[in-house]
Amino acid sequence: MHRKVLFELHIKPLFRAIDRDHMLWHFDLWNPDSFYERNGQPKMHVINAILDHLTSNGPDQMPPNNNAGPWPEEWIDLYRRWIDEGCGRLSLTKGDYQIRKDGSTVKLFAKIEIDQGAECWWERQYEGSDSYIYHLSVESKEETGQSEGRIIREFIGNFPSQLQKITIVDQDGIQELPIPIS
Ligand code: HEM
Repeated sequence: MHRKVLFELHIKPLFRAIDRDHMLWHFDLWNPDSFYERNGQPKMHVINAILDHLTSNGPDQMPPNNNAGPWPEEWIDLYRRWIDEGCGRLSLTKGDYQIRKDGSTVKLFAKIEIDQGAECWWERQYEGSDSYIYHLSVESKEETGQSEGRIIREFIGNFPSQLQKITIVDQDGIQELPIPIS
């Protein structure tokens, strides 16, 4: 089955935190929106420049030889396929969230409305084992011709009871959901 390459699911994990740190003076390798903001350059400029640097055999090669480079060819092919398929992305969606405390556990539930045929994904932004930050994203699929959306009710997970909040990043921005006392 053909799987479209999407930045958040398939390309972002190829960039190490240390790659990101080293390149932040130019752009954020984990956020393609930042690729588009350089000196009024067209958005493809940085996307193509990254491919040029990934495939370079000379001193321009990224990541550099003394810093985990070069990438295996399969990774470079995947990055190239991402470009060829139109630089696919997930987009943020939104939901209604509810936190319930159940004895010694905290449970997070969500009600989400998305288009027919679309799928939604929770991406966890890792900030340590006691911090929970989730991005609620949607993957659009082929047009189904059906205009009405569908409602999904999801149980996201159990969390330790000493947790003070769960953070959700969605279309409405950053939401900090406090854990109820009881
Ligand atoms: C997959 C990982 C990486 C990618 C895709 C990447 C991409 C790039 C790109 C596109 C440029 C050119 C920027 C421009 O001139 O507009 C660049 C420059 C540069 N990168 Fe990276 N980079 C990566 C990892 C790293 C790492 C790990 C280091 C640190 C050792 C690093 C250090 C640099 C430096 C010093 C330059 C400037 C080179 C110069 O202007 O002469 N990069 N990188």
